[in-house]
Amino acid sequence: MTNDAVKVCVILAMDRNKLIGKEGGMPWHIPGELAYFKSVTMGHPVIMGRKTFDSIGKPLPGRLNVVVTRNKQWQAEGAVAVTSLADAMAVSKATVTDKPNPQIMIIGGAALCRDAMPFTDRLYLTFIDHEYEGDTWFDSYNADEWQEVSRRDVDPTETNNIPISYRVLERINNSD
Ligand SMILES: NC(=O)c1ccc[n+]([C@@H]2O[C@H](COP(=O)([O-])OP(=O)(O)OC[C@H]3O[C@@H](n4cnc5c(N)ncnc54)[C@H](OP(=O)(O)O)[C@@H]3O)[C@@H](O)[C@H]2O)c1
Repeated sequence: MTNDAVKVCVILAMDRNKLIGKEGGMPWHIPGELAYFKSVTMGHPVIMGRKTFDSIGKPLPGRLNVVVTRNKQWQAEGAVAVTSLADAMAVSKATVTDKPNPQIMIIGGAALCRDAMPFTDRLYLTFIDHEYEGDTWFDSYNADEWQEVSRRDVDPTETNNIPISYRVLERINNSD
């Protein structure tokens, strides 16, 4: 298998206004959402912006943690620090070559995703059909560029009656 088969994925949860963050953390606490995140990302390298790493506070177990920062001095135990997204991709790709279903997971936040969107193949997007308050939006997401390939709607009784769907989207290929 070659690196050509590697899928670059972004995984994020957003509300109906594309909100993803508030004051350096999440705008919500939704039962089951973290378990979904864990099930999708486990075993794959995860790339994150430095602020997202700070919000999580520690490396995610069972995954290569790659943190992108412009600060050359930055370091944290259990994480690989890189100063560019290109370096993050190179480090991550080296670990997934020859694996079945090779995926690289870009896990936020908005700033990093802005830079990663042009070469992202797949989105794991949790749609939360509710309006929250916050300060960080997935503004690089343009629904017209993506098609849904799978979707699971959560029983609202499991999420305090907030409608949630876990969707996988792939880029629409306009060259056809
Ligand atoms: N809802 C969700 O699914 C979800 C997921 C993840 C995060 N979030 C939330 O999103 C918020 C954080 O997002 P954010 O957009 O503010 O920050 P972020 O993307 O997590 O981190 C931004 C930082 O990453 C570094 N960086 C980003 N792009 C870079 C590049 N191309 N080259 C080098 N360094 C780069 C810089 O670090 P330095 O400043 O160190 O140079 C920059 O300040 C938090 O509220 C978090 O809880 C939500």
